[in-house]
Order: sequence, then structure tokens, then C-alpha cells
Amino acid sequence: KVLGIDSSTQATKALLVDAESGEVLEERRATHPDATEVDPRAWLEAVDEAAGPLLERAEAVSVGGQQHGMVLLDAQGEVVRDALLWNDTRSAPQAEALIEEMGGPEASVEEIGSLMVASFTASKLRWVRDEEPGTARRAASVLLPHDYVSRHLAGGGEAFTDRGDASGTAYYSTRTEEWKPELVELALGSSLELPRLPGTPQEIMARTPSGAAIAAGTGDNMGAALGLSQSEGDVSVSIGTSGVCAMVSPRRPNDATGAVTGFADATGRFLPMATTINAARILEAGRDLLGVSHEEMAQLALASVPGAHGVTLLPYFDGERTPNRPEARATLSGMSTATTREDVARAYVEGLLCSLADGITALEDRTGSSAARITLIGGAARNQAVQQLAPAVFGREVTVAPAAEYVALGAARQAAWALAGTEEPPSWEVSGSRVVEADPTPEVLGAYRELKDRTEGWVRRS
Ligand code: XUL
Repeated sequence: KVLGIDSSTQATKALLVDAESGEVLEERRATHPDATEVDPRAWLEAVDEAAGPLLERAEAVSVGGQQHGMVLLDAQGEVVRDALLWNDTRSAPQAEALIEEMGGPEASVEEIGSLMVASFTASKLRWVRDEEPGTARRAASVLLPHDYVSRHLAGGGEAFTDRGDASGTAYYSTRTEEWKPELVELALGSSLELPRLPGTPQEIMARTPSGAAIAAGTGDNMGAALGLSQSEGDVSVSIGTSGVCAMVSPRRPNDATGAVTGFADATGRFLPMATTINAARILEAGRDLLGVSHEEMAQLALASVPGAHGVTLLPYFDGERTPNRPEARATLSGMSTATTREDVARAYVEGLLCSLADGITALEDRTGSSAARITLIGGAARNQAVQQLAPAVFGREVTVAPAAEYVALGAARQAAWALAGTEEPPSWEVSGSRVVEADPTPEVLGAYRELKDRTEGWVRRS
């Protein structure tokens, strides 16, 4: 048996899985604070609660974690300040400054595989240098969230990470597959100790005090690709706290526009991704505004028509990253006195799907390959309106994967891989997927893109 853990933005999930078949034997979860700035010790309490009782039954364990978060530790390995997470956009000016200092967008993509944005760890280090010089002086090492949790499972000791999560720091080269300590220095003004990188993706990096093997772990999106057993060209569209369109690719992507980040995956390939900051929360905001349940929200949306009688939502409520508009707010446009609650609910669902459709288009444009299969996953993919309207908005059939914790499952698959020590990860079946055919409504995406163009340069006023 193997244990897979997902330390996500909102909760920690743990799956005990049969290493041969991939069958989930037991599942536990614990919540922890959900914010953009969090005391990382809360994740350790959550992992103890969720995974503790399962750990002694597992021969190997691995952690998938929210990408990019900056966990700063002092020389004693103690937390120096709250972790700044991927969804914290305060370091947008610092990301811009670093791109300039690295020699512009092309040079930065050549070095780190992606165009720097506020989500990436390096921009957060620069923010600390600019705003909290005392913290910068006390910091001795920097970890990603999953590294911090893995080290806890090992009972302390040397920290380690993997190439997938490392590729989201902006101080790792996806070309040479090595850390770039000079970029840590550029960002923070001083050097920091960095976690050890594995030689192979299936390497055993450490042991728990009771002797279970600990695999390298990875970022949550890389974990999901592993959990879904995706092949080259397959695209997953994950609608969780963030919206993530990811394609498994044999080639290192190279996009200086920033629409597609060029991350590495957890198997030795690449995982070009288009990520939106606003995803499931769009539906939550609509539900709260209308004072209805999730279920009612879906029914209201399905009761309207494609295009919501002219109502269009540009859903950049918390600022956005795809498109790169960290200062944006949402725009609801085209309302008349005849607009109904059904139309507003429809506009919210369509706004979410259009922003994801932009992500899929960006992936196809930048990789030059069309999506082999589009699979919907994540909490909001359970919403009936999302499932029914996604093929219409995307203009093609969509596979809805059964509800499962794919990040934790992918982590478990990595743990089983480390245990087996084979060339390829064990093949685990994902059964129970459902294909939803498309009745395309291109006008919906057209209206959205027109509004997007029209609001270019709008920034929040308060
Ligand atoms: C990816 C990203 C998010 C987080 C969510 O670049 O920032 O998907 O990994 O946990």
C-alpha cells in the first residue's frame, strides 16, 4: 500500500491506495486556513490529522502540493514569516522588475522556462527584500509548500523537492534541469539554501521515522497529470481554487507572452499550463450574490440561453494572471431591465468556461498541437451547468472524469513508482469517465473576447 497526499490551498487530503491496482482503500481529509498568506505550520497539523492514521500502513508516501508558495525558514529550520502563496498578487511589480533585470521577457523565458508572474516564488522573494528587509536577513532557506510537508514526514533533516515543482520557482532552469542560485540572489539580495533535487523522478528521497519510503513529491498540477494517467497531447481542465489547463508535452515550451507557463512535469516530460486565478470562486461569488445553493445556481444557469440574453461576465474578481491583469476586477456587461437571475447565473458559468477556453486556445497555439482529449476535473467540474455547457463553449467534446482526488492519487502513483523502481510509473486505470458531446455556441466566446479587448487597461479603483 502507498499513501498519496495533496496539501492544497484549502485542505489536506490523504489517500491510501493499493500499489498494484491504484484502487483507493481509504480517504481522509483535514482543512486548514484558506488565504493568500498562511502560517505554513497549519499544513503540518492538517497533514498529521489527515495522513497520520494512514501513514503506518503505507510502504511509501508522496506529497503533491500547491505550487509556487514561498516558505522561508531561518538557519534553525523555523518559519520566518507566513508563507506567501501562488494566489497572492502583491508581488506583481516585483515580477515586472525581475523580468527587466533578467534582460526582458525572451531572456527570462530562456532562463527559467516561463515568463515571471506574481505567483512565482522569486517575485515573492523580491517583495520580501523590498518590504521586509529584516525578514530577508533572517531567512536561510526557501522551500515550496510540498517540500515543507515532505520534510515534516521525514521527521526533519535535509529538504528535497522535484523538477516539476522546482520549475515554478523562477530560480530553476527547465533547460539545464538545475537550480539557478544566482536568481535567488538577484531576487532577494542574498543567497538561500535550496532543497535537493532528485536524479530520477522515481528516486526515494528519504524515509519516515517508521521506515516508509518518501518519494520526491511534486506540484499539484503535475500530481494531477500523474493521477489522471495522461498521455502526450491530453489536456486536463481543472476547476478548483485556480483554473488550470495543462497539456502533457514531450517538448519544452517557450512562450515569452506569458500565456503559457513552461513547467516540467513529474515524469521527465513537460506540462505547459495556462492558469487562471479565478475559477471555482466565480461560481461561489455568483451563488452568494443570488442567494442560492450550488445546485440552484446550476439550474438557474441552465434555464437561460447561450449568451445569457446579452449578459457577459469577465470574471477577473481577484485580479488575473491569464490574461496577465493583476490589477483587474470583474466586469458584468450587457444588462437590461429585463435581465433575469437566470441570465446572471448563466453569465457567471459562461464567464468561467470562456476564461478556461482561452487557456485551451493558448496551449494549442503555443505548443502547436491540438488537444488530443479534454478532461474536466476539480470541485467545480461537478457542477451540472459546467458539465453541460463546457462542450458548447469549448466547441468540442469533453470528458468528465469521475470525482476523485487526482492530485493525491498522482502522489500515490509516484510513491508506488518509487517503490517499484521501474522505468515507467505503474499503469493505473481511470474508470468511469463520461464523454459529453458538443453543440457548439461560438458566439458566447466571441462576446467574451470582445469584452476582454474592450476592458484592456482597466484597473481597480478601490
Ligand atoms: C499553478 C498555480 C496553481 C496552484 C494551485 O501555476 O499557481 O494551480 O498550483 O494550487
